[in-house]
Amino acid sequence: MNQERSDTLVLFGATGDLAHKKIFPALYAMVAKGTLTEPVIGVAFDAWDLKQLQARARDGIVKAIGKVDEKIFAKLASLLRYVSGDYRSAATFEKLKSALGTAQHPLHYLAVPPTMFETVIQGLEQSGAAQGARLMVEKPFGHDLQSARWLNRVLHLVFDEQSIFRIDHYLGKEAIQNLLYFRFANSFLEPIWNRNFVESVQITMAEDFGVEGRGRFYDEVGCIRDVIENHLLNILLLLAMEPPVGRSADDLIDEKVQVLRAIRTLTKDDVVRGQFKGYLSEPGVAPNSPVETFAAVRFFVDTWRWQDVPFFIRAGKSMPVHATEVIVRLKRPPLDVFDPIKPGDANYVRFRIDPQVAISIGAQRKAAGDDMIGEQVELTALDDSKGDMPAYERLIGDAMNGNGQLFTRQDASELAWRIVGPVLGDTTPPQRYEPGTWGPTDAMAGFGPPNGWINPAK
Ligand code: BG6
Repeated sequence: MNQERSDTLVLFGATGDLAHKKIFPALYAMVAKGTLTEPVIGVAFDAWDLKQLQARARDGIVKAIGKVDEKIFAKLASLLRYVSGDYRSAATFEKLKSALGTAQHPLHYLAVPPTMFETVIQGLEQSGAAQGARLMVEKPFGHDLQSARWLNRVLHLVFDEQSIFRIDHYLGKEAIQNLLYFRFANSFLEPIWNRNFVESVQITMAEDFGVEGRGRFYDEVGCIRDVIENHLLNILLLLAMEPPVGRSADDLIDEKVQVLRAIRTLTKDDVVRGQFKGYLSEPGVAPNSPVETFAAVRFFVDTWRWQDVPFFIRAGKSMPVHATEVIVRLKRPPLDVFDPIKPGDANYVRFRIDPQVAISIGAQRKAAGDDMIGEQVELTALDDSKGDMPAYERLIGDAMNGNGQLFTRQDASELAWRIVGPVLGDTTPPQRYEPGTWGPTDAMAGFGPPNGWINPAK
């Protein structure tokens, strides 16, 4: 392991979609803040030249933020290099090695499909480019427990665990950081944050668009693998974990792993699957594909703190809104001293993750007037998003600095697959739902937290 900051960023998959949409805008923001001054070597199969890569980077930045500051872009462009070649060819890695020049601690970022990981890692090792280096790998990290174990073995043949950074970009989001901070920087939540006061937890990730040209990828993955096994399970861990004993990456990850170990392995009864009407005509989707574009899943965490509290996760494409939100719903007061509290009303904590960042407390107060009649209100701390750091910017910076706190450790990557394993690859056709609705109505009847789902607003 080395502690020094990486002195070059090597981006495999530089001409791909992720680089275009997320990585170049993140690098541009880093250059603007002065947090990236190191060379960035793009590597890809396409027979482009550097000018084409720069143009592609510019296009991605404009699409992401609307405009480009020429001075900043010129700085980024001057850091860029391009190596084109086949990942299976030793010559590609020889070119990379020479582009690395005197770099001692490059960060190799694999923004390529996992099927390419082994080939690239071998190329890095054989050319000597892996020496003193760090490795950052994109999701999906495997397809199931077996493939995740295999990938971990492949990575560990060349890199030690402290040099490996498995990305779940959700962990880099401001709101997710805030969730952790809010839980452990305040004392008022702790007394109620357990089975004695919490009735249920629900996490909803709704997207009001379909698979957007990613049909081929999505059809091999489905909703559970795409976002539940990773992004949303990670939110559950932050809600359920015990306070970490220190600030190191391992202190935090150890507590998450304890929760993962305590989560019951899912059975078919814990899952409802759905598919939006029209999915089958998306390019790249197999005829009669049984892949789910919506899933609702019930988890239990077998610990003293959480025994019998259901944690529900629901995610879907083509939903009515685009929003990710957590509701921690508290039990009703033991007695109605005033008017009876309406069944839908509740005490809860709402964490809004996307698109806005907010934390709200749901409460009852007296409605103005003669009678002691209540009304539901929400006290909200809304983040004005000034100074928010986009996830990829935070994560690339952290990996370059060797800070693994927001990345997935090997044990966590395998435990998550253990939990969802039995419900993967279900070939029974999921129930269809109309685009723009909250999923398959019949299949969802009776499935959800006690007192129901709370749908996020726009
Ligand atoms: C990705 C999934 O990991 O996360 C996508 O593959 C999903 O299907 C995306 O749309 C959501 O992330 P964000 O940050 O864009 O909301």
